[in-house]
Amino acid sequence: MIPLKHVIIAEKLVKYYGNFMAVKGISFRVKEGEIYGFLGPNGAGKTTTVRMLCGLAKINGGRAFIYGYDVTREIKKVKKIIGVVPDISNLYMELSCFDNLMFCAEMYGVPRSERKEKVLELLEFFGLENKKNVKFKALSKGLRRRLTIAAALVHNPKLLFLDEPTIGLDVKSKRQIWKLIRELNKRGITIFLTTHNIYEAFKLCDRIAIINEGVIVAEGTPTELRTMVSGSKIIELQVHPPIREPQVFSRIPGIVKVSTRQGAIRIMVNDVITALEGIIKLLKESNREIVMLNLMGADAEEVFMKLIDRTKESKKYSAG
Ligand SMILES: Nc1ncnc2c1ncn2[C@@H]1O[C@H](COP(=O)(O)OP(=O)(O)OP(=O)(O)O)[C@@H](O)[C@H]1O
Ligand SMILES: [Mg+2]
Repeated sequence: MIPLKHVIIAEKLVKYYGNFMAVKGISFRVKEGEIYGFLGPNGAGKTTTVRMLCGLAKINGGRAFIYGYDVTREIKKVKKIIGVVPDISNLYMELSCFDNLMFCAEMYGVPRSERKEKVLELLEFFGLENKKNVKFKALSKGLRRRLTIAAALVHNPKLLFLDEPTIGLDVKSKRQIWKLIRELNKRGITIFLTTHNIYEAFKLCDRIAIINEGVIVAEGTPTELRTMVSGSKIIELQVHPPIREPQVFSRIPGIVKVSTRQGAIRIMVNDVITALEGIIKLLKESNREIVMLNLMGADAEEVFMKLIDRTKESKKYSAG
């Protein structure tokens, strides 16, 4: 079997801000043609990693290769083949959509004779033809995001970095951006995206690295990540009279975690029978009836929290 080509190889990447180690020796590989997600909470090191890979921040340890080029030594070659969409737009407020893209095309060295055609093609692809002469500052948030992505594509990059592409957008605009990302991917562009939106990562990405406090705590396809915590099941429960303090359940053996969602108590368990015995005993003692009871697998959010919690646990032991 011919191995798939890795378009990003990161080996033990480290980033310091002063004495603070923001990225702690992470390694990962991104295959050509995939949508690879970096999923993590605020401050995890997502933006820092993107900035190192794109030559915008110095790498303090380890190495990174993009299409085989060393990011530190051959950044000019790297920049020709990557597009970068930063978390905060880099476009000019006072310029029109058309002028913003033309300017980017010039910056990226697109030959003069090809610029206009490329810009018009991008405006059409991103559904912005009728906004051609509208200033960037007059666009809605969703359209601004679309134009910012378009701007990163003027030089036909093979690999696109998207830092939190849907942050702050409403549901409809988010969906439109997801559709565009999928479409770009279908056209052959490898995508590296960061997000703290678990749903987005599990829905959109072929593979996901979960990053927390500068460390990759898990990596795999959405299905693989789910099976990593497959021992866990969720019991969803509604009782009458309602329980004001659902945390009373957390003392029962077999129960990992208790939360509430949309009026129901969600109990993560690793031993269903033991947990159910304890739950029923507690309900009997307090004269409550079961109104609804569901047993299901953990959803993306629970998988994410469990994987992050697991690393905190192992850190606790290794520190001690
Ligand atoms: N320029 C900087 N100077 C000092 N510390 C920084 C700097 N940039 C980031 N940090 C710190 O490094 C860590 C990682 O930050 P980073 O912005 O990479 O996280 P992130 O995962 O992108 O978070 P977010 O979801 O908030 O965008 C954080 O603790 C942050 O406070
Ligand atoms: Mg960030």
